[in-house]
Amino acid sequence: MTTTGDNRTEHIARLGDRSLFPALDARAYLNHAAVSPPSLAVREAVRGWLDDYGRCGVDAFLAWNDRRLALRQTLAGLIGAQASDLALIASATTGVIDIALCLPWQRGDRIIGFRGEFPANVTPWQRAAELYQLDMTLLSLDPFMRSHAEGLAVLDGELGRGARLVAVSAVQFQTGLRMPLADMAALCHRHGAELFVDAIQACGAVPIDVVAEGIDYLTCGGHKWLMGVEGTGFLYIAPHRINALTPHLAGWLSHEDAVAFLGEGPGHLHYDRPLKRDSTRFEIGSFNGAGFAALHAAVDLIASIGVPAIYRHVNAYLDPLETALNERGFRSLRASDPAARSAQLGVLPPPEFDVLDIHRALTRRKISCAIPDGVLRFAPHWPNHADEVDVIVAALDEALAELRHC
Ligand SMILES: Cc1ncc(COP(=O)(O)O)c(C=O)c1O
Repeated sequence: MTTTGDNRTEHIARLGDRSLFPALDARAYLNHAAVSPPSLAVREAVRGWLDDYGRCGVDAFLAWNDRRLALRQTLAGLIGAQASDLALIASATTGVIDIALCLPWQRGDRIIGFRGEFPANVTPWQRAAELYQLDMTLLSLDPFMRSHAEGLAVLDGELGRGARLVAVSAVQFQTGLRMPLADMAALCHRHGAELFVDAIQACGAVPIDVVAEGIDYLTCGGHKWLMGVEGTGFLYIAPHRINALTPHLAGWLSHEDAVAFLGEGPGHLHYDRPLKRDSTRFEIGSFNGAGFAALHAAVDLIASIGVPAIYRHVNAYLDPLETALNERGFRSLRASDPAARSAQLGVLPPPEFDVLDIHRALTRRKISCAIPDGVLRFAPHWPNHADEVDVIVAALDEALAELRHC
């Protein structure tokens, strides 16, 4: 931590150093795939936002509004996009809904999704299917679990039967399977379909490049691997896709020069201003300033380390943890192919144990992990230090011994 000339504290993030999280109770916090705890930088950013609004009221708006562009730029840098192709939105789900309701659907169009996805990337497509009379198919993720090549072959066959859109998570929330997005996008495009990606389990810890990978739409929430707070997110739309979208979800800020009538005197209140021609059209109304101040601080720290370095760091952490779990009879769901690995490790307990019991026993020992859909999930990020692995394994051994005697 250093102090800048204007007395703002400049926080420095280092791999394996959790000193920016002094209040964190857990001995090992492995729940970044659920909710990240706010770092000191994040907490100060929110306080700074509140202090500015507390002092200046509406006069704080313009200064913070200008920071939107800087935040969009930082987020765009994380995924290889241009800032103008991003909209700041309220959650990953909001981005799914935006595209699900604005694609120019034709009755009978088919959406391909996957069984096992987090519901955020299913429900809005189901609603669109009902509203626009579309077909929706949910494919099994099992072929992708066996190998990317096998999954892609199945997807190729399905796309051959016709589809308008494939909706997938960059990383599956329970198994941690990283999907082959570039190959999926190439297949989609070959068959005249588009690829929608929910990247909330990837962005911030798993490299993504929307342009190189050919992703058409990508949504992300701010409170997991981006390490911001809930109620924030962003939507990327490939620039050549935006004009085709029907603006069903426009709001007062979706227009060009939307705020002119508030500061430029009489005669500027028009309802026929054109809608913005880039993704920021999806920034439809007043905006979660405190939340985005938090997200900005969090993402600046991630950008200062770099996502590829974070990805290597967490995988080096997970390697010995996976080995120790395998030795104790757990079944790892982590892919053997490094290209299919993410930043999380999901395991199934030995048959004689109940996953809920193990989770409770670990929680009592201040090991914070999760059990989505019955999978024991460990999700470390840049502050986790490799030394924690011994602490987790010792806690696990105690927990298993305790449960064996119950
Ligand atoms: C893959 C996935 N998508 C979406 C969500 C929900 O995101 P949000 O609450 O930002 O809509 C989650 C987890 O909460 C998730 O794991």
